[in-house]
Amino acid sequence: MTQTPLVEQSRHDDILVLTIQNPPVNAFSPGVPEGLKAGLSAAAADEGIAAVVIIGGGRTFVAGADIKTFGLPREQAPDLRGTVQQLDAFPKPTVAALHGTALGGGLELALACAYRVAVPGARLGLPEVKLGVLPGAGGTGRLPRVVGVQKALDMMLSGTPIPATEARELGLVDELIEGDLLEGAVAFARRVAGQRPIPRVSERSVQGATPELFAAAREAIQKSHRGQLSPALIVDLVELAATRPFEEGWQAEAQKFMEARESPQSRGLRHIFFAERESAKIPGLGKDTPLLNIRAVGVIGAGTMGGGIAMNFLNAGLPVTIVETSQEALDRGLSVLRRNYESSAKKGRLTLDEVERRMALLTPTLEMTDLGGADLIIEAVFEDMAVKKALFTRLDGLARDSAILATNTSTLDVNEIAAVTSRPEQVIGLHFFSPANVMKLLEIVRAEKTSDTVLATCMALARRIGKVGVVVGVCDGFVGNRMVHRYGEEARRLVEEGASPEAVDAAMNALGLPMGPFQMTDMAGLDIGYAIRVHRAQQRGEPEPDGWLDRIVKTGRKGQKTGGGIYDYDDTRRPRPNADMQALIEAYRAEKGVTPRTVSADEITRRLTGTLINEGARILDEGIAQRAGDIDVIYVYGYGFPAYRGGPMHSAGEQGLQRVVEDLKQYGHTPAPLLERLAREGKTFADFDRERARG
Ligand code: CAA
Repeated sequence: MTQTPLVEQSRHDDILVLTIQNPPVNAFSPGVPEGLKAGLSAAAADEGIAAVVIIGGGRTFVAGADIKTFGLPREQAPDLRGTVQQLDAFPKPTVAALHGTALGGGLELALACAYRVAVPGARLGLPEVKLGVLPGAGGTGRLPRVVGVQKALDMMLSGTPIPATEARELGLVDELIEGDLLEGAVAFARRVAGQRPIPRVSERSVQGATPELFAAAREAIQKSHRGQLSPALIVDLVELAATRPFEEGWQAEAQKFMEARESPQSRGLRHIFFAERESAKIPGLGKDTPLLNIRAVGVIGAGTMGGGIAMNFLNAGLPVTIVETSQEALDRGLSVLRRNYESSAKKGRLTLDEVERRMALLTPTLEMTDLGGADLIIEAVFEDMAVKKALFTRLDGLARDSAILATNTSTLDVNEIAAVTSRPEQVIGLHFFSPANVMKLLEIVRAEKTSDTVLATCMALARRIGKVGVVVGVCDGFVGNRMVHRYGEEARRLVEEGASPEAVDAAMNALGLPMGPFQMTDMAGLDIGYAIRVHRAQQRGEPEPDGWLDRIVKTGRKGQKTGGGIYDYDDTRRPRPNADMQALIEAYRAEKGVTPRTVSADEITRRLTGTLINEGARILDEGIAQRAGDIDVIYVYGYGFPAYRGGPMHSAGEQGLQRVVEDLKQYGHTPAPLLERLAREGKTFADFDRERARG
């Protein structure tokens, strides 16, 4: 029998087993379809073969089309659709044996088989929407024929896989195999080998379709996927599947898949997919770097930040000792934490037993010395260098020798903090983003002396607590906040020139950011940014800041926490313009002799993204970020930049770097030298990442 290296054929008496061997996730890369087709043809031709089993070697079934091939012309892309067609018409029973994850094209392959069996721990899903595409190999037609329209839409629009146990209940899996999957699948295949007619999903009818259901789905995606292309295409295709013959949907799906695949949105989402995985790799840090065992965590400060940080570890089953300076602050922190858990329980995300289990892992204390047993101590105290230095001196004396000492500072020099300890190699910055139990980003600040082991341990820990950890270097604001400061400055300038805060926010909302710069400022608290500006002015020997926003702070309006800031807020926390603040801004312009002009939404988005890109380029050039992709990951996961735009640095490439340079110059900024060079050479930041990776 012919074999290709990526698909092994093995005979188990009258059953032919095709094992896909394309590590790490058995993606449908070039060579896989050829191997499967060859195996199927061999099985069809061999009278001694009664049925075929398709299984994945290694840790998983097929995790989907090979995303790396999405840039290829259609003719060169692996022929998943051809393989699916061959399976659908196959004259002998076929059984897909699933373990790990059967995702995207992997599940479509399984759906084209006559039967599906799975281990109970397997997960099945169509996550294409997360990559800005749609199931392109019959998934939009077949899944609704098995699980019904509503469930199929839920799965395809959320992209979230379901456990095999649920798939069994839905009839998506025919049998759960408790023991050895291959053995079970072969036995199953033998049992069904004589079954005729062979069941084919494409011949089934679709249940549960009503016009109201599609109307509701279209309305829902306006909210859940605002501005995105592929969810709308998915709904159209499922409707087609429900109302027209299978073949019609099958043809339309191919066309829509290509439309989505070629879209800038899919390029952006694919960029983030790979950038996120790339960001986990640290040049020079081998896979064999020894890791420290983190069994217990200490958190100093039970305020919003400290409490949120603690929750991450409790959620992951790690015991946390949390320290405060007064019983009152400790009680308050604990009750907020409990309330957060209870509200998750009310929403059905957690059982009450689980709430208690997590709370039981928490030890509140007023004694710093209780941190002596912790393997990692994170401080989330007041942002002041003297306070932090005193704290780290103390921690150095009481923490166990192997403990990692981490600061959650967002602006201070981690080298300076590390220098007060006798173990600077064990000091690191772990910069969580508020709300710390929700936001996925963790900036991992590598100080000059941080050891490889400590860095690698923190990266692994980030993954363990469900965060995306990105390594950054020491500078004021690290990556995210340094960029956001520039962005804030430019936003304030836009208002000075004549734009209203609402117009600035609306332009960024239209770009896909859930919050514009002023909505964000009002939420974070106006006093926070003000304190930073005052501190900077003092450091630079400049006069006290006195912009229009500083004047708003001085009126006592500090944002949402005081009921209003730049905007007023009603009970639903929706911002409404405030007439006094508008008057304050107008008076400010008049005082500065500015004649307000009309600023277009296009100018707002270009200037604001331009400043992000420009500062990003400086950060990259200084080596504070390892890659442009890391900056994109930070901005998407920490600041709500739409993933379908791929983050600011990727979006620069979509616009063309030359245009970004011209915009910056037009609005009075000096383009970063790296940005200018890349623009001159006709390159993108992705090219820069490749150059740097090559060394
Ligand atoms: N194509 C190419 N490479 C892939 C891939 C895919 N579909 N899925 C994963 N990889 C790569 C990752 O980039 C990573 O590579 P590096 O080690 O070089 O960084 C490696 O496989 C391992 O991936 P993870 O680090 O993500 O491993 P994990 O165990 O945490 O997660 C996973 C595994 C759940 C499969 C996850 O990788 C994942 O969600 N993959 C994407 C699945 C997907 O979206 N499939 C649909 C593709 S689109 C499609 O199929 C369209 C169609 O209908 C025709």
